Amino acid sequence: MFKGILIEKSGAGQSALMAQLNEADLPDGDVLVDVAWTTLNYKDALAITGKSPVVRQFPMVPGIDFAGVVAESDNSSFKAGDRVLMTGWGMGEKRWGGLSERARVKGEWLVALPDGLNLRQAMGIGTAGFTAMLCVMKLKEQGVTPDKGEILVTGAAGGVGSVATALLAARGYDVAAVTGRSEEAEYIKGLGAKRIVDREEFSGKGKPLAKEQWAGAIDVVGSNVLANVLAGVKYGGTVANCGLAGGMDLPTTVAPFILRGVTLAGVDSVMCDRVKRVLAWQSLARELDLEKLERMLNGVSFDVVIRTAPLMLEGKVRGRQVVPVSGLVS
Ligand SMILES: NC(=O)c1ccc[n+]([C@@H]2O[C@H](COP(=O)([O-])OP(=O)(O)OC[C@H]3O[C@@H](n4cnc5c(N)ncnc54)[C@H](OP(=O)(O)O)[C@@H]3O)[C@@H](O)[C@H]2O)c1
Repeated sequence: MFKGILIEKSGAGQSALMAQLNEADLPDGDVLVDVAWTTLNYKDALAITGKSPVVRQFPMVPGIDFAGVVAESDNSSFKAGDRVLMTGWGMGEKRWGGLSERARVKGEWLVALPDGLNLRQAMGIGTAGFTAMLCVMKLKEQGVTPDKGEILVTGAAGGVGSVATALLAARGYDVAAVTGRSEEAEYIKGLGAKRIVDREEFSGKGKPLAKEQWAGAIDVVGSNVLANVLAGVKYGGTVANCGLAGGMDLPTTVAPFILRGVTLAGVDSVMCDRVKRVLAWQSLARELDLEKLERMLNGVSFDVVIRTAPLMLEGKVRGRQVVPVSGLVS
């Protein structure tokens, strides 16, 4: 038996509790992993609170990522003792996830822990940091290089936004960071942002086009914020969007696309192909300043994850929420 968070559904709705689970309950897969660290991501908070229909089948162990040590393997790429990480592939949505002391998964979904990161740091980065790197890679693919001008990052005090800010600064971009929390300005500047922009400037219904200001943007918010970001992107620029922290709608017009050639590029980490995954993790291990990563991390004990989830949805947590499951670091 081992501990895991379980989301159950009954006539009264869904609820999450810490449960004793059995290995026989775990889904099929060819690799059994002892989970060392996991994280609380925005999507996990949605799943745990039931605020959004993230969970597709019940009962469900939430947790869209984990890092740990292989306990048993029938997959030729992994053996007992290997240090691995996993993000996405429907974990915590359609398949039991990482908020559990043990997880059984398909080996093809695992990534070997990259050199230069320990298990705690890997989950300090987690899905949010991995997605931030995918967004940074997307801007580069679109030709948005540091010489083109300032990059706007929304939700900058959150998980994706914090890592995106640090990664962009490390690559030599000038970052303008949008936040609704002025008290986090020094934290965000410490990650490398050149200036802070008040979220209020983006929250209202804006015009189809505004002054051209940013060469590109990484947006985690959606809704009016994304619409206003698009309106202010320079001719030929790109916005990489990966999130909906402000809403799923997008009240914009085609003006930025047809008059300024702006690209809105979607970023998904869940089904991202394996080659890109490995590349992104190697780049993270190489480029992310681990001292800055340390500043982003908040330890959340496994036992208080369920209580922390609503705070995350209220935008009250900063950076990345790392959860020691076994607490093994190396
Ligand atoms: N596509 C993917 O594969 C993928 C992967 C990871 C995450 N995501 C999505 O990306 C988003 C961010 O994830 P995260 O882990 O960074 O979450 P997070 O740590 O909770 O950060 C979200 C940030 O967004 C801002 N925010 C929150 N509510 C807002 C609102 N109503 N209006 C405007 N801004 C608001 C806040 O930043 P400030 O306080 O600084 O303003 C908050 O810190 C989520 O929607 C998540 O589901 C998508």
